[in-house]
Amino acid sequence: MGKIIAIANQKGGVGKTTTAVNLAASMAATKRKVLLIDLDPQGNATMGSGVDKYEVPATAYELLIEEQALDKVAVKDTSGKYDLVAANSDVTAAEIKLMECFARELRLRNALEKVRANYDYIIIDCPPSLNMLTVNAMAAADSVLVPMQCEYYALEGLTALMDTINKLASVVNPKLSIEGILRTMYDPRNRLANDVSEQLKTHFGDKVYRTVIPRNVRLAEAPSFGTPVMYYDKSSTGAKAYLALAGEMIRRSEKQKSKQVA
Ligand SMILES: Nc1ncnc2c1ncn2[C@@H]1O[C@H](COP(=O)(O)OP(=O)(O)OP(=O)(O)O)[C@@H](O)[C@H]1O
Ligand SMILES: [Mg+2]
Repeated sequence: MGKIIAIANQKGGVGKTTTAVNLAASMAATKRKVLLIDLDPQGNATMGSGVDKYEVPATAYELLIEEQALDKVAVKDTSGKYDLVAANSDVTAAEIKLMECFARELRLRNALEKVRANYDYIIIDCPPSLNMLTVNAMAAADSVLVPMQCEYYALEGLTALMDTINKLASVVNPKLSIEGILRTMYDPRNRLANDVSEQLKTHFGDKVYRTVIPRNVRLAEAPSFGTPVMYYDKSSTGAKAYLALAGEMIRRSEKQKSKQVA
């Protein structure tokens, strides 16, 4: 049964989409079957997967509002070797239409229930706001991965985000857990980043991934070539960091599984 992970942070520009695309590609490169769901009408994860958001025949709109089968909606030939549910401006309409739907919070969960056995990982790229699309992602997910930059006030923002996740979970998904906290665009020479990083570890312990994602220009360039960074510059620090993250996540979940068996 595939694990469903929502990548979320209400703050904009913290590396949600970069993480979604490159983690999906890294998981796929380790022979996992991966589905990436773009729930952001900006369609950045779609374009970053080599799929033209202006040309794509179906998006999350068809999945959520028209209740079309995932197999009909998903794009199978992405540059990252994972399946993709695309997004474009139609997904803004989906957000509005969801308001009128029956069980509007559970549309994505219901759509994924039928297909999750076909995947090892289902990764959801959330928009930078707490709208009905994000609520659908939280309701469908097993866990939330929070990318964040180690800046001043980051900790306050994170505490507020955790509060929101907990409140939301208690209503739509009591089993939702925190998958992990990922430090993005990290510069180890920056003293503030190091201080915030230490505070993070004090507050959130081993929920903070050991892997950090460095600031790396290749990560910013790759989307304009419609590809995850590992197929753009596989020796870049960004490509290596996301592969390391995938490895850390896979090891963690195997450890949890063996604990459950024991
Ligand atoms: N590790 C990194 N090194 C350098 N640039 C990065 C890195 N991670 C992300 N970026 C760049 O920072 C910008 C924001 O990243 P990204 O789009 O992933 O954030 P986001 O949280 O998805 O944003 P939004 O909230 O708008 O959806 C992008 O231009 C991206 O290329
Ligand atoms: Mg994004």
